[in-house]
Amino acid sequence: MKRILLGISGGIAAYKSAELVRLLRKNDYEVRVVMTHAATQFITPLTLQALSGHAVHTQLLDASEENAMGHINLARWAELFLIAPASANCMAKLSLGIADNLLSTLYLAAECPVYIAPAMNQAMWSKPVTQENLNRLQQHKVHIIGPETGSQACGETGYGRMSEPSDIITQLGVLSAPQLLLNKKVLISAGPTHEALDPVRYITNRSSGKMGYALAQQAQLLGAKVTLVSGPTQLVTPKNIHTLKVKSAAEMYTAVMQQVVGQDIFISAAAVADYTPEKLQTEKIKKQDDNTRLSLCKTQDIVASVANLPNKPFTVGFAAETHNLERYALDKLQRKNLDMIAANWVGKVEGGFDSDRNALQVYWQNGKKTFAMTDKTQLANQLLTLIAERLNA
Ligand code: C5P
Repeated sequence: MKRILLGISGGIAAYKSAELVRLLRKNDYEVRVVMTHAATQFITPLTLQALSGHAVHTQLLDASEENAMGHINLARWAELFLIAPASANCMAKLSLGIADNLLSTLYLAAECPVYIAPAMNQAMWSKPVTQENLNRLQQHKVHIIGPETGSQACGETGYGRMSEPSDIITQLGVLSAPQLLLNKKVLISAGPTHEALDPVRYITNRSSGKMGYALAQQAQLLGAKVTLVSGPTQLVTPKNIHTLKVKSAAEMYTAVMQQVVGQDIFISAAAVADYTPEKLQTEKIKKQDDNTRLSLCKTQDIVASVANLPNKPFTVGFAAETHNLERYALDKLQRKNLDMIAANWVGKVEGGFDSDRNALQVYWQNGKKTFAMTDKTQLANQLLTLIAERLNA
């Protein structure tokens, strides 16, 4: 859990800070709030106290702190300092090092990374002095999130709207993640495939696509340029990730082979069908009086095709097994010429295909690592960290 100090300065966008605190906590941040006096005119400290679960700080000299040095303790406590909204006045003070309230004093005392989400009227934002203050803050290594353009509370339209809380959290993740895959091109396949029998029926499997989508999102946070090739899933297409939607194994093969040129890493998280109907019936297959048989033929193995390209990317396969996990995984590693394979149990155990959680046994030439049961976001991060390590090995 990361410790974040949220500074709220005086502006109408302060009403969004309540949602911001809620989402931060949902995203595993421990939140402490500091407000300027002006901010308390827009939203009450009690609201933020209830949402953060801690008393809100507003006073520079806090008699309740033993040594009356609350600001230094708070600054030491924080691993990240986010100021949202940051008003024009607040930005001006920070850029000049004026420490006449608790928030601006904390900025001077903080040694952790600082992020600001400006919010103000569009004319105030474009005023040269505000832009000078912005440049100065950037030179001082303050990370800027937003602002966005659009209609404003004052009735005008233009730049100055504070970014939405969910976007601030995404940006915070991007800006604060270690850039282990900076500018690496990563291709990821995800989800099941649908192998059509006739116009209304298909063969598929239980894959939800969650592991592949988590890998795509986490790789992007680690600085990678991600392309996602997704089979049919119920998941929301990730924002800002180049996503190609396919249905069948054959379509996935074509999309992956087209996209793979110039990629540094290929992660084949998709549960590609191994067999497809030999013949696609153009009309609905009619019910017979007796039992029937399906004739299936093998699909092309996508990950093996990639792993056998002359300039192959670092290629990672997945193996979902109900038994003999290690033996089957090691066999696939060799047979498909992979650089790494991530194996997991499926069937009557927690995790796997349809779950939000999973555990992995990862193998490579002369090495292996176990990742314990956790949520797929965390697991994706662990696997990508290992991939980055092996890529540089
Ligand atoms: O051989 P098996 O299907 O168990 O191997 C699983 C791995 O191979 C996964 O990484 C999966 O994405 C990949 N695969 C593939 N093309 C296929 C079948 C599996 O890329 N036709």
